[in-house]
Order: sequence, then C-alpha cells, then structure tokens
Amino acid sequence: MSVTKAVIPAAGLGTRFLPATKATPKEMLPVVDKPSIQYVVEEAVGAGLDDILVITGRSKRPLEDHFDRNVELEAALEAKGDHARLELVAASNDLASIHYVRQGNPLGLGHAVLTAEPHVGREPFAVLLGDDLIDPRDPVLARMIAVREQYGGSVLCLMEVPRDQISLYGCAAAQTTDHADVVLVTDLVEKPDSADAPSTLAVIGRYVLDPAVFGVLARTQPGRGGEIQLTDALRELARMPASEGGGVRGVLFTGRRYDTGDRLSYLKANILLALERDDLGPDLRAWLPTVLDPEGS
Ligand code: UTP
Repeated sequence: MSVTKAVIPAAGLGTRFLPATKATPKEMLPVVDKPSIQYVVEEAVGAGLDDILVITGRSKRPLEDHFDRNVELEAALEAKGDHARLELVAASNDLASIHYVRQGNPLGLGHAVLTAEPHVGREPFAVLLGDDLIDPRDPVLARMIAVREQYGGSVLCLMEVPRDQISLYGCAAAQTTDHADVVLVTDLVEKPDSADAPSTLAVIGRYVLDPAVFGVLARTQPGRGGEIQLTDALRELARMPASEGGGVRGVLFTGRRYDTGDRLSYLKANILLALERDDLGPDLRAWLPTVLDPEGS
C-alpha cells in the first residue's frame, strides 16, 4: 500500500520559545518570512503526499487561518496592484487537503501521533516535525517512502552528528545493509548521555510509519520527561517481526537541514536561509561583519 498521508504534530507547548508561543503554535513562528509549518507542508506535497493532518493544541486558529484564504487581505493587495505579495498570500491557500485534529492534552509526541489513528486508518503514513527544516534541494522523504515500499515496516531519517550533540536527539543503533544509504535499526534511545550513546546517528524529524505503531503507542507508558515518547514505540517496532508490521530501517541523510527547535539554532537557521536569498542575502552578508567586528569594517 503506498503512502499518501502526512501527519504534522503541532500541539506541543513550545516552552523553549515563550513568550512568543503563549498564544501561537511554535510551528507558526516564521523562518525568514514563512511559518515553519509551511516549509514542512510544501515538503510533504513535494514528496507526493496531498492529504495532510495537522495535530493541533490550544491555539489552532492561526494554523487554520494560514492555510485558508484571507479574502480581505487578498482584495486589499489586488486593489493596490501588489501582485507579488498577493501571490505570496495565496500560495498557502490550496497547497493540499489539510485536516486538523486536536490532541487535547499535550502528553508527548507519541501521544500526538496516536491522535492521528482515526484519520490515518490502516495505511502507512509520514510524520514531519516543524523543528527540522529539510532543504528542498536535498529531498529525503521520497527516498524514505521508496524504502518503506521496498521493505515494509517503518523508516527513520538518520543523520551523523558530533558525539557531544547526540544527547539532544533520539539515537539509533544500526547495522549496514546492501544499500549504502539504508541501515537496519536495532535499537533506539531518546537523548542518551554522549558517553552511553550506542552511535552518533541522530533521529531527525521525518518518519514513515507502519500503522502497527498505533497499537504499540496505545500501550506505551510515559517515558523520559513523563511524555509518551515516539522513540519508545519505535524501539518496540524495531524488535517486532515483519509479519506484525515490525522492522525499522533508517535512511542516512547527508543533505542540508536547519534546526529550528530551540532559540539559538532557530536564529542560526534564519541567518543561513536569509543569506541564501537574492532579496536579503547581499545586504545581510555586507552587514554581518560590521556587527561582528565593528573596528575592522
Ligand atoms: P518538542 O518537544 O520539540 O516540542 O516536540 P514542544 O514540546 O512544543 O517544545 P518545547 O520543548 O516545550 O520547547 C516535537 C514536536 O512534537 C509536537 C511539537 O509541536 C513539535 O512539533 N508535539 C509535542 C505535539 O504535537 N504534542 C505533544 O504532546 C508534544
């Protein structure tokens, strides 16, 4: 069965970005000039997934409004003849068929994914987190879907990180396979101490999951931080036989990825992406040395 649905969890409390996230989902924070969730929706659509379920929390209005028409704004831009901005505003209106479901209580990423079960049903599906932006020039989701179609089971996106950073991620123990970019995941640990980490392979926020994950999540107890962890369910899936929807593989990602999950990496991502833009890059590039070394410039 092919993958057609994407799930985007956006119900977390976003505590690392308070007070910005007091009344706005973290996924609505702009990266340069576009909410991070729009990058993620565009990525899903680019991989052929046109049925998108957003898991929302308390403040779902801004998310729904962003992917809907804003007739008043469109009319004002039209009247001004500002067609360039009109195009930007309209770009998010009809990206995909977007559905919303409320998580109710933010009990963790695993719990958020479980909320998707009635919509997803018994099909394999993708999960994309707005905390990780994957450069559209280095698409990985289509490869992950192809690996799922070849082997069944679930597929993670794995990236080598320096050992002193592995404690920020889920970490995978893995064996090589016949494909240089695919590994068989044998174990997973959420945010291990760097000394105990079984590898330096970090789990990035893209998943293609077998629907068997729902049964596992339903019996997964709260783990690290008192939250129902997706990593704990994936560890169990890695140990389950293929006949029960088990088996976890990882696609090794070596492309460009921008972390927007905490304030410092979010600022870095904004600068990196703005530097690449034709409209902002040249001026920003010229300005940065003047703040970094006012004497030298
Ligand atoms: P994070 O742990 O990074 O998000 O979850 P958070 O809890 O919002 O952030 P902090 O740590 O308090 O700053 C990863 C993803 O899972 C979603 C988040 O919205 C984010 O996209 N999530 C997390 C949920 O949808 N529900 C939850 O209960 C927890």
